[in-house]
Amino acid sequence: MRVIAVVNQKGGCGKTTTTVNLAACLAADGARVLAADLDPQAHTTIALGVDPEELDENVYEVLVDPDGAKRLRSVIVPVSERLDLAPSGIVLSAIEQKLAGAAPSGESPTERLGLALETIRDDYDYVVIDCPPNVGVLTFNALRAARELIVPLETSYFAIDGVQRLLETIGLLSERLGHDLEVRILPTLYDGRTRYSRTTLGEIRELFKDLCFDSVIRINVKLREAAQHGLPIIRYAPRANGARDYAALALEVEVTPPEGLSVAAPEAPEETDTADVREVVIRFDDPSAGDVRVAGDFNGWIPDKGVRSVIESNGQTRVWTKVLRLPPGTYQYRYVVDGEWREDPTNPNTVPNASGRQNSLLVIS
Ligand SMILES: Nc1ncnc2c1ncn2[C@@H]1O[C@H](COP(=O)(O)OP(=O)(O)O)[C@@H](O)[C@H]1O
Ligand SMILES: [Mg+2]
Repeated sequence: MRVIAVVNQKGGCGKTTTTVNLAACLAADGARVLAADLDPQAHTTIALGVDPEELDENVYEVLVDPDGAKRLRSVIVPVSERLDLAPSGIVLSAIEQKLAGAAPSGESPTERLGLALETIRDDYDYVVIDCPPNVGVLTFNALRAARELIVPLETSYFAIDGVQRLLETIGLLSERLGHDLEVRILPTLYDGRTRYSRTTLGEIRELFKDLCFDSVIRINVKLREAAQHGLPIIRYAPRANGARDYAALALEVEVTPPEGLSVAAPEAPEETDTADVREVVIRFDDPSAGDVRVAGDFNGWIPDKGVRSVIESNGQTRVWTKVLRLPPGTYQYRYVVDGEWREDPTNPNTVPNASGRQNSLLVIS
């Protein structure tokens, strides 16, 4: 069971939207998923179509007393096929005060969610936890229970400082607990039509490098409407950009489990003779681009999958260097620039593709 907490102390950066839609997309892909709502505002609960006022109990019961772990099963409500919810409610806002200094010696009130999740370990493939917009006892419960963290980061507004502080807190915590946390940044609320958003995304990628997901969540009003209708986007508007973006994120999460954890259906190791693999470097520069990825037949056309990216700034120009490791052969590829697929402008070698455009050709001998 993979436990993923969605955390950022800033409100409005897409934590709830990410929790709801990542959970729903993972379930649609065949995994058994629990969405756990730790925010007293209960937005995840509401966005999954459950009215917190109508429930007799919620995660408060699980967290409030040292024996609460066994209550988790009775608190969980089913939402849709393979997707369940551990709901929240306003009563959860009392928990910080309630737990402050109240723990019997030897028991930490920040361990309670983790202990509760142990009791359902065999029932789910993923638990996705939504956190409140602050770092208190609820968020600490999530950080201790999780092995993976997703930090949504708005690309329309440069919230880097806050995120760096959060990363420091997370680093300290995982050191103190001797518990490795794999942190990844998810660019959200991206608007590829504005230069500002593109520049910011480029800066985020440059600063956080491998910590960044390849997936980017674009601004899409359907995401807000879906939440208002109590449905995940893949059920409310399956063809909307928001549905595509969260499906891509789910796929990226599925194919990149943290080290030491195996995926449900492990892929067969590739049969390439590593001695025969060449390192090939291709470069793309465009001062107005915020995000450049490469997709080709060598990575199943999944942008940047298996590709090492190095981003260099040269005055106003940003140069994306893509390092590919491939055996000799002929490969087709395209760049994905701010979500738009393009041929390589510096490569005269192309072949027509099925959609009437050109794929660039790479020949490795
Ligand atoms: N990609 C997006 N496009 C459009 N609206 C979004 C997007 N992500 C989130 N929103 C909207 O922005 C608001 C804040 O998002 P939310 O996920 O609730 O953030 P948080 O949980 O971090 O406070 C909500 O109204 C939500 O519907
Ligand atoms: Mg929220």
